Amino acid sequence: MQTKPQVVHTLLDALPYIRKFYGETIVIKYGGAAQIDPALKDKFAQDIALLSLVGMKIIIVHGGGKSITELSNRLGVKAEFVNGLRVSDKDSLRIAQMVLCGEINTEIVSLLNDHGAKAIGINGKDGGFVKAVAIEGLGYTGDPREVNPDLLLKLIADRFVPVVAPIAGSSEPTHPGFNVNADAMASAIAGAIRAKKTIFMTDTTGVLDKDKNLLRSLSRADVERLKADGTIAGGMIPKVDSALEALSNGVDKAHILDGRVEHALLLEIFTSQGVGTEILR
Ligand SMILES: Nc1ncnc2c1ncn2[C@@H]1O[C@H](COP(=O)(O)OP(=O)(O)OP(=O)(O)O)[C@@H](O)[C@H]1O
Ligand SMILES: [Mg+2]
Repeated sequence: MQTKPQVVHTLLDALPYIRKFYGETIVIKYGGAAQIDPALKDKFAQDIALLSLVGMKIIIVHGGGKSITELSNRLGVKAEFVNGLRVSDKDSLRIAQMVLCGEINTEIVSLLNDHGAKAIGINGKDGGFVKAVAIEGLGYTGDPREVNPDLLLKLIADRFVPVVAPIAGSSEPTHPGFNVNADAMASAIAGAIRAKKTIFMTDTTGVLDKDKNLLRSLSRADVERLKADGTIAGGMIPKVDSALEALSNGVDKAHILDGRVEHALLLEIFTSQGVGTEILR
């Protein structure tokens, strides 16, 4: 238990960081892989409520890869991946939409609201704010090309915390839309609103080298080398690519964080000890 002077000290330690990020926009990708433990989910929600209540404009983009694969298996629909991206036929798109919008999105919104944030659930089809195009060979898995930031800017100006499910519309009428990798969705959104920072929360300590040691920072050249030799594989490929893309679109900082660590977000934002991997421009 902290003594009263220690509590005051802790609050004062946070002051420079609150000042630095007050009114700034931070896009947080909440990976499906980091959403497993109920106690951790609760702590994540506390962190978001705190960041939002001290004046940061938070946008959450969530994944749900594990749950989509689990339901697909139960329904006898085979889950298939190419370079860490899911291949979506019509049934997989329906399943992704059910799991992401119907289940995970509503759950995160409730959790955040229970902790005092003003969360609101949306997906890229709402107000047509994200439109994707097909990625060759991946069916209804799309690349989020067009993001209209108006809806998000209105929501964050009113102090809502938008919780975005990675589903996008299409510019073709009657098209069923696209399942989008959530890292790509977070990066497209962060770029479109020129976020100060984007954080990818996942289920590893960060990007690991061949011997499973944490790599604290990575340049574009490092990323290319590690992808080429297979060290960066599977779901980490879209993550590092998305981080680099956000940086080239004007986002100041991109971090990959361990969502299994309690209050990882507060540690990252309110302390100078960097956690996880920083991707450098
Ligand atoms: N070099 C690497 N360092 C760390 N993790 C890696 C590396 N290469 C591949 N991975 C894999 O990437 C995974 C993270 O991506 P994954 O897509 O599974 O999770 P997520 O993006 O957090 O969740 P979701 O896809 O549901 O949003 C890790 O669990 C790990 O298995
Ligand atoms: Mg992923």
